[in-house]
Amino acid sequence: MDLVTNKIGLNGIIDVPSDKSISHRSIMFGAIAQGKTTIKNFLRGDDCLSTLKAFQDLGVNIEDDGEVITVQGTGFSGLKQAKQAIDVGNSGTTIRLIMGILAGTSFTSQLFGDHSIAKRPMNRVMLPINQMGAECTGHDGTEFPPLTVKGTTNLRPIQYQMPVASAQVKSAILFAALQAHGESVIVEKEKTRDHTEDMIRQFGGDITVSGKEIRINGPQNLVGQDVVVPGDISSAAFFLVAGLIIPDSRITLNNVGLNPTRTGIIDVIQQMGGNLAIQETGNAMNKAGSLIVETSELKGIEISGEIIPRLIDELPIIALLATQAEGATTIRDAEELKVKETNRIDAVATELNKMGADIQPTDDGLIIHGKTPLHHAKVTSYGDHRIGMMLQIAALLVKDGAVELDKAEAISVSYPSFFNDLNKLYQ
Ligand code: S3P
Repeated sequence: MDLVTNKIGLNGIIDVPSDKSISHRSIMFGAIAQGKTTIKNFLRGDDCLSTLKAFQDLGVNIEDDGEVITVQGTGFSGLKQAKQAIDVGNSGTTIRLIMGILAGTSFTSQLFGDHSIAKRPMNRVMLPINQMGAECTGHDGTEFPPLTVKGTTNLRPIQYQMPVASAQVKSAILFAALQAHGESVIVEKEKTRDHTEDMIRQFGGDITVSGKEIRINGPQNLVGQDVVVPGDISSAAFFLVAGLIIPDSRITLNNVGLNPTRTGIIDVIQQMGGNLAIQETGNAMNKAGSLIVETSELKGIEISGEIIPRLIDELPIIALLATQAEGATTIRDAEELKVKETNRIDAVATELNKMGADIQPTDDGLIIHGKTPLHHAKVTSYGDHRIGMMLQIAALLVKDGAVELDKAEAISVSYPSFFNDLNKLYQ
């Protein structure tokens, strides 16, 4: 499709779409808890709908009246073997987290997904859950999907030092640990998003977190709750950057979830000199607020270490931000970008360089030299929603012709109303 180009003066207010990570988990917790869970503001993007469908396939009654989703929880023991292989679509969160849940069942499940899922590494989940007693195998002796997960009702607890900083892996182990007999101890490589820990507590479970160490006893029974999903800072990120780099702009993003394990992009914008105001509206447990950005003069910075998991999904759009900052921005310790929906290090460098950026891909990140004007090009999302949205924001700066995006449909994975929201800002 032809992207929107050559805009100045983006102005307006956007209600940010619901958080993808929390939407996935609200269905999962609703299913494994006893009793009814209601979910308001569920994200009806392709990924979260894959999770909803997967749990329906596992025999859970889930209804959507267009406003509220109601999950009649079965508890872990009430899940039933799906009649066919479970399709996770493009969703890494669905396949990885569900592995931890299926690890404790009395049956065998098959999991498959699209072309991108078939290339995503699964050993990171397979090894710990197999150590706990499940039998999970990949396609043709590899670690890649389609996967077979043979559960056991005799899961053992685990002491596990995580080799990667990954909330998906941590969450899968926590779901298995909730079903194991005894205390599990998980030590994170770096602290990652903690929605699973929060929701274990919200659903009446018990978990102890001390720095990077997590202790959890099993088995535990959880109880259904009423969940209200906040807005997704990872979706807000695209319009935060648009407001900062497009001349004469001022954009307000409402109802953004501000869990501190997710707010690395706010720190980066502030360090780069961006004009960003925060009005907090949530409470201490569920931090949320409005973010207001204005066009800013930016400078390059270094982004590395413990902040990386706090902004891992925002790095493509942060790379675009850095193309419009004076001087060099260096992103390090972000090798996980290579195993996302696509290799995001290569995708960001290749596609933005086609448009005139000066970006050098490295083994664990990117070196971006700014400030560079961007020009017309034919680009692709590689089927990756976040690359697609980043390229649309980049296209807004282009004055000399068309920017044609291949595989634009991927955007509906996390932000189905992205183009509508963009339109509102210049009309
Ligand atoms: C997610 C964790 C992150 C993130 C993904 C969502 C989650 O993945 O990139 O979009 O909901 O737990 P990793 O755990 O692979 O870092």
